[in-house]
Amino acid sequence: MTAQPAQLAHPLRSQRLNQLTHQPHSRLDALVKSHDPFASPERFARFVAAQYLFQYDLERLYNDPALVALIPDLPARCRLQQARLDLADLGLAIPEGDEAIRSRSLGLGAALAWLFVSEGSKLGAAFLLKRMPALGLSETFGARHLGEPEGGRAQGWKSFIATLDGVELDERQEREAEAAAIAAFERFTEHLERCFA
Ligand code: HEM
Repeated sequence: MTAQPAQLAHPLRSQRLNQLTHQPHSRLDALVKSHDPFASPERFARFVAAQYLFQYDLERLYNDPALVALIPDLPARCRLQQARLDLADLGLAIPEGDEAIRSRSLGLGAALAWLFVSEGSKLGAAFLLKRMPALGLSETFGARHLGEPEGGRAQGWKSFIATLDGVELDERQEREAEAAAIAAFERFTEHLERCFA
């Protein structure tokens, strides 16, 4: 038997995905900061555009009946509308999203992994929100998509993780989940590069 890498040996799927995406997350964090999104509302608007495009990719998943059956508050977790309103507050046009990506059909493992990345990004959002007063922005103007989710940030994450860890997946779906978590980080990176180009 070949030894499994330690990161893929954790009994909890959420922990495995967490460890697997540690590096992509660090790279993305550094990339966000390299674009200096807190220098001005105009620069922050570009970051919001990337968030909008990522939520656009995910909107169908957030409303997928099979996934909503697992996570009843899933549709309310999507932040597309908040990002749209933020762009309007900031005076930036809504960028054109990618219909092909949002319309493709994903297996359960992959779908949950994309949601894992999107839901996880709400944790970092709490830190980003602290920078907003300096820009004259808040969770009711320009930075709505970073706002505290209904029921609380920690609780929302805990309940999502409980579902993610409780779902049974076969080996193939498990591998698809891992690949999808990495792909979701790559996708956000593409949006970021496009919006700051
Ligand atoms: C598109 C996806 C994501 C983006 C764009 C993103 C972005 C960020 C950024 C920019 C920070 C730094 C905030 C600061 O220091 O001011 C951060 C921190 C954080 N993020 Fe993410 N993140 C994403 C996904 C995730 C995921 C999937 C998780 C959890 C599994 C996560 C958990 C955290 C946590 C706990 C922090 C707090 C500080 C830390 O531990 O590094 N994020 N995120």
